Amino acid sequence: MKTHHKIIIGDSRKMKELDDESIHLMITSPPYFNAPFDYKGFYKTYDEFLQVMKDFASETVRVLQQGRIACVNIDDMLVDGDKFPIVADVTQLFIKAGFRYRDRIVWKKPEGYIRISRRSGVMLQHPYPMYFYPDNLLESILIFQKGKFDYKKVDKQVKEASKIEISEFQQNKWFLSLWEMTNVLPANRLEKAIAAFPKELPSRLIKLFSFVGDTVLDPFLGSGTTMKVARQLDRNSVGYEANELLLPTIKEKVGVLQGRMQEEIDEFEIIIRRDEPETTPSETQQLSFQRTE
Ligand SMILES: C[S@@+](CC[C@H](N)C(=O)[O-])C[C@H]1O[C@@H](n2cnc3c(N)ncnc32)[C@H](O)[C@@H]1O
Repeated sequence: MKTHHKIIIGDSRKMKELDDESIHLMITSPPYFNAPFDYKGFYKTYDEFLQVMKDFASETVRVLQQGRIACVNIDDMLVDGDKFPIVADVTQLFIKAGFRYRDRIVWKKPEGYIRISRRSGVMLQHPYPMYFYPDNLLESILIFQKGKFDYKKVDKQVKEASKIEISEFQQNKWFLSLWEMTNVLPANRLEKAIAAFPKELPSRLIKLFSFVGDTVLDPFLGSGTTMKVARQLDRNSVGYEANELLLPTIKEKVGVLQGRMQEEIDEFEIIIRRDEPETTPSETQQLSFQRTE
């Protein structure tokens, strides 16, 4: 199936390139509030972070179709010894924006894969009460829904083409609210600064919550993992990324420049939005490339 992918270099707090109700599924991992390795000092205050999350929630509810799903990979964050209740606050903001709160999947990483801090070592140096600081192996995947989905509206052929492999569902225990997935180690300097999620994460969510030919949005695209997987699974996609320096990484990961071998033609559109000043026109490139995977 021919798919279409739009990379927008710009701030997703306003997704002005997207019409109301034009998206079928949203999957993202926003930059964690001042995460010590990746986003230290990224936001001036916690309130500023929450304002970005509020704008992101209201834009997401606007662009999603009725009954569709928004998935937010996020977790509470420890900054300078204090834990910020990000999961609770973001859940509240999404509910206030108009979503129904459907589920919270806990993503468990393998032991030994912790990048942030090995706080538990404190106990080895001070084996006394009050020195307990556990290492965090978990992240959350919050699942919200815009109203109710009308199952009768789905075309029979599209439904069949989107059928989920029950063996994969059962073997990998997708039916639990605990998903064990290995996180990715950064492949290059740029990826190191953005904390990419593993392909497995958008792959499960896209299969579980969208149909072939649907359009998947990632408002914090990073290295382009969601777009790469959407393309592989015959879905269209739109991704926003504020950092223009990531464009070559995204193009490489999504395979924009790899137009060889197979018969299918996928389309890519790259919009470089100049947010400041408002009047500067955007640059748009239209590209067509063959599918490689
Ligand atoms: C955690 S990373 C996303 C990683 C991505 N899931 C992946 O697998 O590569 C968050 C990204 O959001 C971008 N970002 C931060 N604020 C943004 C905004 N307001 N609009 C668009 N992108 C933003 C950051 O530059 C960063 O690349």
